[in-house]
Amino acid sequence: MPAKNPFDSQKVFCAVTGASRGIGRTIAVEFARRLPSDSLCLLLARSLSGLNDTKTLAAAANPDINFICSSVDLTQPKEEDLQRIIIKCLNGKSPSNFDQVILVHNVGSVGDVSEPACAAGNHSKWQEYFSLNVFSVAVLNAEFLKVFTAEKVKHRLVVNITSLCGLEPFKSMTYYCCGKAAREMYFQVLAKEEEGNLTVLNYSPGPVETDMFYEIVNNVADKDQNKIYTEMRDKKTVLMCDQTIGKLVNVLESGSYHSGDHVDYFDI
Ligand SMILES: NC(=O)c1ccc[n+]([C@@H]2O[C@H](COP(=O)([O-])OP(=O)(O)OC[C@H]3O[C@@H](n4cnc5c(N)ncnc54)[C@H](OP(=O)(O)O)[C@@H]3O)[C@@H](O)[C@H]2O)c1
Repeated sequence: MPAKNPFDSQKVFCAVTGASRGIGRTIAVEFARRLPSDSLCLLLARSLSGLNDTKTLAAAANPDINFICSSVDLTQPKEEDLQRIIIKCLNGKSPSNFDQVILVHNVGSVGDVSEPACAAGNHSKWQEYFSLNVFSVAVLNAEFLKVFTAEKVKHRLVVNITSLCGLEPFKSMTYYCCGKAAREMYFQVLAKEEEGNLTVLNYSPGPVETDMFYEIVNNVADKDQNKIYTEMRDKKTVLMCDQTIGKLVNVLESGSYHSGDHVDYFDI
């Protein structure tokens, strides 16, 4: 059975992490454009000015929904702080006011791409990387699902922004590959356990021109990787945010996936 189109709903609560720039900003704008009126959109990242710029763009795309920007460092958030952000955003409304909730785990960092795997021996560096990219993602997810339970909300969708790096090893990308693999496995377990209760999509956007892309171009140590990324920049084959999020929206609208699937931009 195809997954339900999340935009074909009465009233939606949508939260996007890493919404202050890059892919997350485009997700916020393009999802907002399709949300029914009176929906509520929670935008999370550290930069409040970046979030406010996203809000301005998203509100221009759909003036009939409400936006809340919340500046939060997701490196090591406290569970109760995350819970408080969600409750405050609801502003007295019951979670059961919404027939569809969407949580997009877009936040991410690429880690140290100058260090080969054989030299990745610093425990606190590993901890910090996993804390932002895996642990806090699972913690936010748990807090969100605690508020928006299956009893209160009919349709629940969780989108994990993942990468080919979570499936295949890429030289100089140790932290990133390990983090994306662990994060995606968490969402696959979730999809299996909650079959029928919620829908999970792991979406891999392909190489996209954002700050993260240039961080790789400028710092990646491996010569082959450097050549691939430099060529994508110079030949302009790197994707734009609109292109890849257009594909994500198509996948969600058509429901052409099963909960827990990994769907890549380059899949047919
Ligand atoms: N770009 C690509 O080629 C590519 C390819 C495959 C997958 N992806 C994935 O797509 C997602 C978005 O990537 P992007 O390229 O748009 O990255 P980006 O331009 O570097 O943006 C990262 C986002 O995460 C937020 N963020 C970073 N550290 C944070 C922290 N400690 N606390 C809260 N928010 C934090 C940033 O906001 P603040 O700095 O304001 O906090 C920003 O909004 C990531 O999961 C990435 O792995 C990207």
